[in-house]
Amino acid sequence: MPNSKLIDRCNRKLNYLRISITDRCNLKCIYCVPYDFIPKVPHKEILSYEEILRIVRISVHLGISKVRITGGEPLVRKGVYDFLKRLTKIEGLLDISLTTNGVLLKDNINKIKSAGIKRINISLDTLNRKKFKKITGYDFFNQIWEGIELAQKIGFDPIKINVVPLQGVNDDELQDIAALSIEYPFHIRFIEYMPMGTNQMEIDSHLLFPEIKKRIGQLGKLIPVDKGMNDGPSERFKFESARGEIGFIHPISRHFCNTCNRLRLTASGQLRPCLMSDVQVDLKTPLRKGCSDDELIEVFLKAASLKPSEHNLSVGHSAGVSAQMCAIGG
Ligand code: 5AD
Repeated sequence: MPNSKLIDRCNRKLNYLRISITDRCNLKCIYCVPYDFIPKVPHKEILSYEEILRIVRISVHLGISKVRITGGEPLVRKGVYDFLKRLTKIEGLLDISLTTNGVLLKDNINKIKSAGIKRINISLDTLNRKKFKKITGYDFFNQIWEGIELAQKIGFDPIKINVVPLQGVNDDELQDIAALSIEYPFHIRFIEYMPMGTNQMEIDSHLLFPEIKKRIGQLGKLIPVDKGMNDGPSERFKFESARGEIGFIHPISRHFCNTCNRLRLTASGQLRPCLMSDVQVDLKTPLRKGCSDDELIEVFLKAASLKPSEHNLSVGHSAGVSAQMCAIGG
C-alpha cells in the first residue's frame, strides 16, 4: 500500500474521519429533522459494518488516527456494539469516540465501555423535561439524564454535552446548562446552529457565539483553557473551581476552516470533504465492485483534493447544503 497521506490543497493534514453508521434516529429534533418527507436510505444502500471497517483500515494507512461514530443515532443500528469492539481493535487509531442522543445510553453503557470506547458526546439542548419533548418529540429526558450520570459513574472521561442554542427555544436556559460544568466534570459545548437541508427552524432563531458567550459569562469569569494536541475547533473555558469546562464551537460567526482536519463518511458510503458543501465522492460503488485497496485510496485522495478552502455559511446566509444533518452526523 502506498504511503500517501491525506494532505489537501491548503496543506491541511486530514487525520479525522467522522463516520455516520445510520441515517435513522429515535428522536425528531426540530433543528435536524426535515419538515418535508425525506425517504430513509434503503438498508441495502447503507454500508455494512464489514465495508466500514475496511474503509477505516485503509484510511489509517493514509494518516487517519481519529474516528468518531455518529448517525442519525448510532445506537439504533443493530449490531453496533460488536462493530465498536472491532473498530477499537484496529491498530493505528489513537482516538475513537461516539456521538449519541443518549436515549439508549442507560441500558447499554456497559456494552459501550466494554467495546473499548472511552469518550462520548451526548446531544442535550435543555434540562427541562417538557421542553425536551417539544424539541425532540419524545419524553426521554429523565432516562437520558440517568444515562449521563451512569456514564460518569463508570468512568467515561471527558463526557461532552453538545447544546445548540436557539433563540426562543432554549436561550433562557443557557446559564443553567453552563452551570452543570461547575458541579459535574462535564464539557458543555455550545454549537452555533448551522442551517442545512430542510428543517423546521427559522433562520432568525440563530444565536451566535458573541451573544452566547456574553450570556454565559454573566454566570462567572470564563477562564481560557489551553488547547490540547488533539483538540477540535472548540474554544475552551472554565469557571473558577469548576469540575468541568465550557466550549464554544462557532462555525458561522468565526470560521475555523483553516484548521479543519476532517473528512466525513455518510451511511450510504459517500466521502464528504466539507460539512457545509454537497460535494461528495462515491466510495460505495467501487467498494461493491470489488476494487483494490489502491483504488479506494485514490477515492480518498480525490476527496481530500476537493476539500474547499472555506465554507460559505455566514450570518444570515445558508450555505445551500441540501443534505440533511441526520444523514451526515454533524
Ligand atoms: N447545527 C448545529 N449543530 C447541529 N447538530 C445537529 N444539527 C445541527 C445543526 N443544524 C449537533 C447535534 C449533535 C452534533 C453532532 O451536531 O446537537 O450533538
